[in-house]
Amino acid sequence: MCNNISAGIISISSAVPEHVLTNFDMEKMVDTTDEWIRSMTGIEERRIAAEGEATSDYAIKAGKIAIERTNLSPEDIDLVIVATISGDMPFPATASIVQDALGCKNAAAFDLAAGCSGWVYALSTANAYVTSGIYKRVLVIGADLLTRLTNWEDRSTCILFGDGAGAAVVAEVEEGCGFMAFELGSDGSGARFLKIPAGGSLKPCTPEALAAHEDKIYMEGREVFKFAVKVQGTACEKVLAKSGMTPNQVDLVVPHQANIRIIESSVKRLGLPMDKFYVNLQKYGNTSAASIPIAMDEAVQDGKIKKGDIIVAVGFGAGLTWAAGIMKWAF
Ligand code: UT7
Repeated sequence: MCNNISAGIISISSAVPEHVLTNFDMEKMVDTTDEWIRSMTGIEERRIAAEGEATSDYAIKAGKIAIERTNLSPEDIDLVIVATISGDMPFPATASIVQDALGCKNAAAFDLAAGCSGWVYALSTANAYVTSGIYKRVLVIGADLLTRLTNWEDRSTCILFGDGAGAAVVAEVEEGCGFMAFELGSDGSGARFLKIPAGGSLKPCTPEALAAHEDKIYMEGREVFKFAVKVQGTACEKVLAKSGMTPNQVDLVVPHQANIRIIESSVKRLGLPMDKFYVNLQKYGNTSAASIPIAMDEAVQDGKIKKGDIIVAVGFGAGLTWAAGIMKWAF
């Protein structure tokens, strides 16, 4: 993009918990049905982290595999970014815990909070560092254990989320490959629609706040849905325009895996066939910042992404935020 350095993803990986919670399991927990969840969201089951596990555990697993899939060693990584809204603790950054565990001794580390858009935000950050020549290799992780922050008595949110992580190494790639453009955005006027009200500087976790589940996810689903339908299509159109590409030139869109109806609206908007959109939300639910890299890793393993393919990653989330990136796959 600048300095004549092209940056791109040189490896990708993911890690999800073993434990599966199906819609039928959820029927025993709240007043819901498999039929309602599948028809309203497309989700059939999700993965739940075991007691005692933390977001860093999955970030470390995914990060380790991503590095192993390159010819680099952990010491070669210059920066670790963890996109998350469910870090191990309010501070330190989960990225620092990951950096230490992976032996990335020469790396700087920070977390990036942009909700479910976080991993694409982090890719664009890595792109800026690599193309400017500041850093050569960046480990970009999206990791969230949102089920830790779920109000299990709220049937309109608890059926949506799952746990996991995905990771990529971003580095210089051959000219003509890698990132072509990004489109990031935020509309903070919608911050109130998706939040955890207590536990930050605004409102401490008092016994009253805990009793009202204010330490857990609060969402006005309809508002987020309307926002998502609007911005996901627009973000795709803008990133395509910035890169000079048309929808027909795209080989695969990897969207945030929140709701099949939101994905279908983008399919319609871009006028592409459904099989140009990678969907795995039926298996994992909404894994927040991890959803796009988990899907991208699966698509690569399935042979649905190959060297030279034009790939669009697009997401939306708390903030409210959105992010899209377009790239020519480099490996
Ligand atoms: O990564 C970003 C995260 N957020 C999202 O992607 C969420 C976007 N929003 C959505 O996906 C949708 O808003 C939901 C799938 C969460 C909900 O769909 P909706 O069409 O917005 O439903 P609603 O919340 O307006 O509720 C409609 C009805 C209500 O019943 P009444 O009042 O009409 O009788 C709810 O009580 O559906 C009821 N309902 C349920 N029924 C069975 C809500 N949750 C459930 C449930 N099972 N789990």
